[in-house]
Amino acid sequence: MLAEDSLKNKVVLVTGGGSGLGLSMAQRFATLGADIAICGRNKDKLQDAVKSLSAHGTSVRSYQCDVREYDDVGKMVEQIVKDFGKLDSLVNNAAGNFFCTSEDLTPNGFKTVVDIVLHGTFNCTQHFGKQCIDSGRPGAVISIVTTYINTGSAFVLPSACAKAGVQALTTSLAYEWAPYGIRLNSIAPGPFPTKGAWSRLMPDGDFEEKFKKRHPMGRFGEPEELAELASFLLSDSAAYINGECVTIDGGQQLEGGQFNFIARMMPRKQLKQLFQAMKAKGA
Ligand code: HXC
Ligand code: NAP
Repeated sequence: MLAEDSLKNKVVLVTGGGSGLGLSMAQRFATLGADIAICGRNKDKLQDAVKSLSAHGTSVRSYQCDVREYDDVGKMVEQIVKDFGKLDSLVNNAAGNFFCTSEDLTPNGFKTVVDIVLHGTFNCTQHFGKQCIDSGRPGAVISIVTTYINTGSAFVLPSACAKAGVQALTTSLAYEWAPYGIRLNSIAPGPFPTKGAWSRLMPDGDFEEKFKKRHPMGRFGEPEELAELASFLLSDSAAYINGECVTIDGGQQLEGGQFNFIARMMPRKQLKQLFQAMKAKGA
């Protein structure tokens, strides 16, 4: 669908672009001609990602930055503009998540996920928006949310609350910043197997099989499918799409809150043990 130069001369920042869906999106943006900035906390991961992204022949740089840190995000955006000459697009992809029965969540557990997902998205979006407004240049933002932004979901309470907030940020600013030529949209993915998500949200192969069987299409998403959608939304072909949330989940959300079914899978005590074992194992 997209012409091979759809993102030529665009500079795109992908938060959490060192792994998983962020890296897949960055790969596709680069093949469509975009110059790429990625950020994350882990330097080694970022360096490996830069190596693979550089194969496409566009400029690629990484920035070690925790999106929770407002001032650091501001410095990163400033540095990107110095390094590349401008910044056209932002993909808010960095996130944190884990399974936990909500009565057992610690305040810091709740805060940690909300800090990364909601505050991190605010930090990046506000700094990005300010540099667009100050420079008089248009911009495009995509935030990666989840299909449970409207329904909520059992066992991922901090993520559900934070992602719903990100969706509200998207629609609020889509209207407020439209006069500046800044578009904001979101993508709500269904299940896409990545190391980051699977290590935290798939206890074992048996659980994964059950999860897949419940899916109306009987399969998970391919990262390339999501990357194609994100590329379209960033491209000038989507110039009149603003404030939209596009779901890409093969119809799975029609069933209701993503992890609600787990509540009936096994007794609560067993569930708690399972989640605690996942926590102990670490990601
Ligand atoms: C309960 C947990 C926990 C767990 C951490 N905590 N893991 N509580 N169950 N499994 C609690 C800790 O006990 C601590 O609270 C607090 O959270 C902070 O933990 P830290 O390990 O110090 O945090 P930090 O090092 O900042 O790591 C953040 C993280 C981690 C979110 C906990 O998982 C992470 O770095 N994630 C990034 C990548 C990620 O999550 N990717 C998946 C996205 S998938 P106390 O009170 O003890 O101090 C996604 C898809 C959804 O969102 C839909 C899929 C289909
Ligand atoms: P992932 O590989 O774990 O991606 C998360 C990325 O965010 C990592 O690269 C991580 O890098 C970065 N990150 C985490 N905390 C950060 C922080 N404080 N500052 C900067 N970067 C941070 O998982 P994924 O599956 O690709 O998830 C990508 C996005 O898709 C997330 O928004 C997730 O909620 C969403 N999503 C995924 C699925 C799915 O099925 N996979 C479904 C729905 C939505 P560092 O650890 O190096 O910081």
